[in-house]
Order: sequence, then C-alpha cells, then structure tokens
Amino acid sequence: MDAMEALFSRRSIRKYTPEKITEETLREILEAAMSAPSAGNQQPWHFVIINDRKILDAVPSFHPHSLMLREAHVAILVCGDPTLEKHVGYWVQDCAAATENLLVAIHAKGLGAVWLGTYPREERVEGFRKLLGIPDHVIPFSLIPIGYPAESKPPRPDRYNTTRIHHNRW
Ligand SMILES: Cc1cc2nc3c(=O)[nH]c(=O)nc-3n(C[C@H](O)[C@H](O)[C@H](O)COP(=O)(O)O)c2cc1C
Repeated sequence: MDAMEALFSRRSIRKYTPEKITEETLREILEAAMSAPSAGNQQPWHFVIINDRKILDAVPSFHPHSLMLREAHVAILVCGDPTLEKHVGYWVQDCAAATENLLVAIHAKGLGAVWLGTYPREERVEGFRKLLGIPDHVIPFSLIPIGYPAESKPPRPDRYNTTRIHHNRW
C-alpha cells in the first residue's frame, strides 16, 4: 500500500477478530512510530505495550470511550517525557506525530486501530499513571488499541474543505 492510499483509506477500527498480532509486526509498528518527526529530533516519547487482559479491561473505568479494548489483544500507550525535551513545550506535537505514524503503519499492515484521546484529560492521565505505575514526570498522551479488523468501513466522505484553505493571507 503506498503512502497516499494508506492516508486516504485509514479509518478508526473499533472491532477486532481474535487473531493475535506477532511480535515482529508490533516491532515494525513501533519502528514506524519512532520514525516520526520531532522538534530538534528530540524524540520525547515512550510506548507502553499493554497485552494483559486485566489491565486492558480496567481502562474503561476511567476512560469513557474505550469499550473496544475488551476485544483488543494489545494496545499501545504513547507517553510524552518533557524531561527529554530540548525545545520546551513541543512534546505534544511530537507525540501526536508518533501517534499518527502508528495509526497509518497499523493500517498499512492490514490491522485496525483507533486513537483514544488521553492528554489533556486529567482523570485519564491519572488513571493510566495509577494503573501502569507511570512516573510523575511522564505524561500519558494517547492509547491505541490494535487488532485485525472485524468491521469494514466504507471510504470516508471527502473531507477536502475549500473554506479552510487560505492563500497568502486570511
Ligand atoms: C485526539 C483524538 C481523540 C480521540 N478519542 C477517541 C476516543 O476516546 N474514543 C474513540 O472511539 N475514538 C476516538 N477518536 C477517533 C475519532 O473519533 C475519529 O478519528 C474520527 O471520528 C474520524 O474518523 P476516522 O478516524 O475513521 O477517519 C479520537 C481521535 C483523535 C484524533
């Protein structure tokens, strides 16, 4: 799948088959995440791989839009670490770039995933800190449940919107 096809055909997938993901595929997906651009190439991220059923099932108690985790075998929590920053304040953009790379790579590998918003919702950030023993200086940013798709989605409606494009001035 080429890059343009992957970008145009990616959709949020919230239903997964019981088929497991190999370690090799997981590694490839993480390599794609870590290939993302970051401010000054600071790479201020960590990735927590969660495949313990009890932990996955505990997330909906503090994240209200995460019930699809009950079907997922694995999820990746993208975290930001501001102590690794050279350019203060850019960790959010860096983690968003890594998250998008994850989503596109997952789709290109024939898997499905969805971005579960975490930061800046304090109760979700704290929920992950407690559940996973994440240190105070590390900030849970997004959670990505992953699995082989058990739903197929039509190509999304065209989102190209000329009212959002400005030439030379507003
Ligand atoms: C920052 C962010 C937070 C999101 N949070 C959730 C979430 O908590 N639960 C969920 O099911 N989907 C979540 N989504 C997925 C969006 O609902 C989805 O991307 C959007 O509806 C567009 O659909 P598409 O991904 O199929 O193009 C989130 C997406 C983003 C970018």
